[in-house]
Amino acid sequence: MSNENQQPTPEVEQKPSSDKVSPFLSSPLPQGTPQGQQQSLQQGLASTPTGGSVPKYNLPRGANTGNVGETTHFGYQTVSSDEKAQKVAEVFHSVASKYDIMNDLMSFGIHRLWKRFAINMSGVRRGQQVLDIAGGTGDLAKVFSREVGPQGHVVLSDINESMLNVGRDRLIDAGCTNVDFVLANAETLEPFADNSFDLVTISFGLRNVTDKDAALQAMYRVLKPGGRLLILEFSKPVFEPFSKLYDLYSFTALPIMGKLVANDSESYKYLAESIRMHPDQRTLKGMMENAGFQSCDYHNLTGGIVAVHRGFKL
Ligand SMILES: C[S@@+](CC[C@H](N)C(=O)[O-])C[C@H]1O[C@@H](n2cnc3c(N)ncnc32)[C@H](O)[C@@H]1O
Repeated sequence: MSNENQQPTPEVEQKPSSDKVSPFLSSPLPQGTPQGQQQSLQQGLASTPTGGSVPKYNLPRGANTGNVGETTHFGYQTVSSDEKAQKVAEVFHSVASKYDIMNDLMSFGIHRLWKRFAINMSGVRRGQQVLDIAGGTGDLAKVFSREVGPQGHVVLSDINESMLNVGRDRLIDAGCTNVDFVLANAETLEPFADNSFDLVTISFGLRNVTDKDAALQAMYRVLKPGGRLLILEFSKPVFEPFSKLYDLYSFTALPIMGKLVANDSESYKYLAESIRMHPDQRTLKGMMENAGFQSCDYHNLTGGIVAVHRGFKL
């Protein structure tokens, strides 16, 4: 179905359009909205440093944290909640175009194995509805797109338009026609209706979210009964001597690599600090239980550098 008033971006013209209204959006999209160009409820197109554009998620200042007026951490700094959201946004605008190569360099490619492990734990099946939150450049969404097949549907969602632009271009180039791209804050997941998804994932995203409890509650809300949540995130290494070596690596090598490859050492200093400030395995499991998740468990990977947490909505 065509819409004469619509102004498609160049990317849109290269890909098939769909007049299907996403079943999981809390309000129907305008008819004829091409898949991959769907706009969240607060609309407006934003040009970004990475080129192209995705719908801008216009939150009132301070409303995106759920913690207005409170202090929180940005790495080791104590900042106000809205300052944190702003600083996190700056980090990911800055690193978006170099994000994938930096991931490979910093982890020696091991992040691919961690992600593969999480995908295997997801139990994703053909025909399912999947939401990947803070999905960035789309590593998980790309695999899910293949796994759910043409009858299934994947939403790649992120708060940051630079990251989402990279992900959208990449998945469109890979021929993923069953993926939508939606700007959304993990703390509210406002564009999504209750009980919509069989599987919700967040990979290396929760650490950056200010109000993690609010985010876990929102994840619970959008999951269907019987659905599952998977959280892949840096965690606490279980072996102390290994932990020291890991600290040395992250606080010296990462900022240097960041400077050399992305011309941005500060963002990679934040990465190292934010990992140390993130709740450990047991704390995060408790937070999931508080949000209502059942049968929660976690698996340490690479000696606890990373953990996959899983919980169910019954
Ligand atoms: C380290 S990247 C992870 C990207 C991808 N999931 C992966 O595993 O490679 C973290 C992502 O979290 C996103 N993010 C940060 N705060 C967010 C929030 N409150 N809601 C949604 N996404 C957020 C960032 O924009 C960024 O794309």
